[in-house]
Amino acid sequence: MPRLGRHDFNAKLPIESARTPAAAWYMDQNYHELDLGRVLHTSWQVVAHQQQLDRPGAYLAGCTSGQPWVVLRDAQGDLKAFANVCRHNGTPVAEGRGVTDKLVCRYHGWSYDLGGRLLKAPRIAGIADFDRDDFALAPLPVKVFGPLILVILNGKGCDFQADEVGQSLNQQRWEQLILRHHRRYELACNWKVFVDNYLDGGYHVPSLHQDLASDLDFDSYRTSTFARSSLQTVVSDDESGERLAGEALYVWIYPNIMINRYGPMMDINVVTPLSPSRCLVTFDWYFEADCTDQFIEQSLLASDQVQREDIEVCEAVQRGMGSLHFRPGPYAPRVEMGKFEFHRLLAADYHRHD
Ligand SMILES: [Fe+2]
Repeated sequence: MPRLGRHDFNAKLPIESARTPAAAWYMDQNYHELDLGRVLHTSWQVVAHQQQLDRPGAYLAGCTSGQPWVVLRDAQGDLKAFANVCRHNGTPVAEGRGVTDKLVCRYHGWSYDLGGRLLKAPRIAGIADFDRDDFALAPLPVKVFGPLILVILNGKGCDFQADEVGQSLNQQRWEQLILRHHRRYELACNWKVFVDNYLDGGYHVPSLHQDLASDLDFDSYRTSTFARSSLQTVVSDDESGERLAGEALYVWIYPNIMINRYGPMMDINVVTPLSPSRCLVTFDWYFEADCTDQFIEQSLLASDQVQREDIEVCEAVQRGMGSLHFRPGPYAPRVEMGKFEFHRLLAADYHRHD
């Protein structure tokens, strides 16, 4: 169990007198292990999009926060998820994506049905008391949220508390959008720096994203925080620009799911740690069915510019935290409520006894 102690963030103070967490939260191997074991492996994680599993037998395999998984639709069309770890030697039983009627380990040929039961294992005659039911793949809880498929990587169930933000997204017809583009960014910062940046209530937008800010009405910026999620909204005053038309929704679900819904599009960002000081951000862009290729291309370019500005500043924060002179700072009480709640939820998970 990693040591806690003098780096503790005081979650009891009100936002007006609270201080941000110590640099150890963002740099220390102990906190990295807490992030994995108590935060990321125990919460609902986005692993796939419904469109990727659109028929019986479709499967998709990947690795999230160091944990290999496979999600699939069985012959009845029901979603299933398993640890992608063969019960013989731990190798994967599925790679990439495709359509299949069984999962087969490439190493020694152990095969499993789409319910995770061991079907066949070559040359196992002679193993004492062998019962194939004892060697099923480890199942993971799996659920659908709008167009997303989520699992819990440690295999244990927990509540998914996102009703409030889910309703807002449903009102914005997010399930009717079509997944069109995927991109991955690797950042030289702790994963929580990226989340902090997302949850500052638009604080950084006027100075860091000047092109974007010129289209937004900052007097309309609102942040609502819920038990394990938050919603930031802002109205566009760019009447000519269809890209940002109307109200933009920035949804965050603890710990690492960010959903941006604006105009005829949506992008979903998920950040996971690679090490204490590196993270991976995946972006998936959805568009309304009638968006033209040209519109999509322009939108991706604009989105990429914002993302590059964010990457640069997140990496600068990480370097600053490594300075001899870094000290926890105050929160801007009227805008950084989402960030403060994120830190309070992390502190609760770090101190949880389980
Ligand atoms: Fe930003």
